[in-house]
Amino acid sequence: RPRVLSGIQPTADSFHLGNYLGAIRNWVTMQDTHDAFYCVVDLHAITAGHDPAVLRQRTRLAAAQLLAAGLDPERCTLFVQSQVPEHSQLAWVLSCITGFGEASRMTQFKDKSSRQGAERASVGLFTYPILQAADILLYQADAVPVGEDQRQHLELTRDLAQRFNGLFGTTFTVPEPYIIRDTAKITDLQDPTAKMSKSASSPAGIIDLLDDPARSAKKIRSAVTDTGREIIFDPETKPGIANLLTIYSALAGRSIDDLVGAYAGKGYGDLKKDLSAVVADAVRPIQERTRAYLEDPAQLDKLLALGAEKARAVAAATLRTTYERVGFLGPA
Ligand code: TYM
Repeated sequence: RPRVLSGIQPTADSFHLGNYLGAIRNWVTMQDTHDAFYCVVDLHAITAGHDPAVLRQRTRLAAAQLLAAGLDPERCTLFVQSQVPEHSQLAWVLSCITGFGEASRMTQFKDKSSRQGAERASVGLFTYPILQAADILLYQADAVPVGEDQRQHLELTRDLAQRFNGLFGTTFTVPEPYIIRDTAKITDLQDPTAKMSKSASSPAGIIDLLDDPARSAKKIRSAVTDTGREIIFDPETKPGIANLLTIYSALAGRSIDDLVGAYAGKGYGDLKKDLSAVVADAVRPIQERTRAYLEDPAQLDKLLALGAEKARAVAAATLRTTYERVGFLGPA
């Protein structure tokens, strides 16, 4: 079976529909076709300032939501990044073959650091993509299921894998991005040309998986739509309606064409009302199961500890080879 690895940051209480449709839902499917490793990337979550108690809670919330969305510890390896120390260890080695200019060109760093003020941005935010490369390369992943916003980080990961292999001998699998076009960029309800984003969107622009369905309905009702009245799928001229149709199609399992046919002659209000019901049906079971997992944090921690143990067996083997190739003495 080909191997996949992907990760998600515990930087909010809830994941949003962009995370779910762009990534998590595909992770669930890939459990059955791939040898799958998924991690809650808490090391990545401390690059822009955080509260320790909140981080700990969000890490458990993140794991609970992933399990609730359908990750099954019997069919995949789910773990927390900081519980596998090899991630930080490999990141150091990779940082020594990454060019300063190369890292400076990462658009996500440029966006986030300019939002914080370039002088105040942490060095961790700068080296963030190198840690992400380590996450992926440690597991010799063949594919990495992510949304469109991660494409550049995956390019860097591929470059680093190839560079290391060239310098020190073949060590890493060069991974392919796995990006499903239709749902690769779910957009902000208030600004339908920008991606729905934990860090950049306003609350009204995001539908959270853990939002009360009445609240989601309200956000959908006030979603920015486009001039005109016709419900057609045209991301160029009608990005707002296109986004609503994309979400609807993905959650209801109906094709865009089918939806456009069904809403011919109807208004935006009808579409929004029905979409609210579709969202409510999709999130309700996830919310119930999330609550159930959180009721027993000790059990949750035990699941994660088992995941970390399985992950570590793979990660440690790769790190050992890497250290040898680089010329370190090896275990003392
Ligand atoms: P993060 O935590 O921002 O997002 C998690 C996943 O959700 C996808 N995503 C979206 N997809 C479609 N539309 C959107 N609006 C949207 N917003 C987010 C992201 O593309 C991602 O797949 N750097 C990563 C975390 C990471 C990682 C890794 C990913 C760390 N190590 C190793 C893959 C492999 C990030 O910040 O994702």
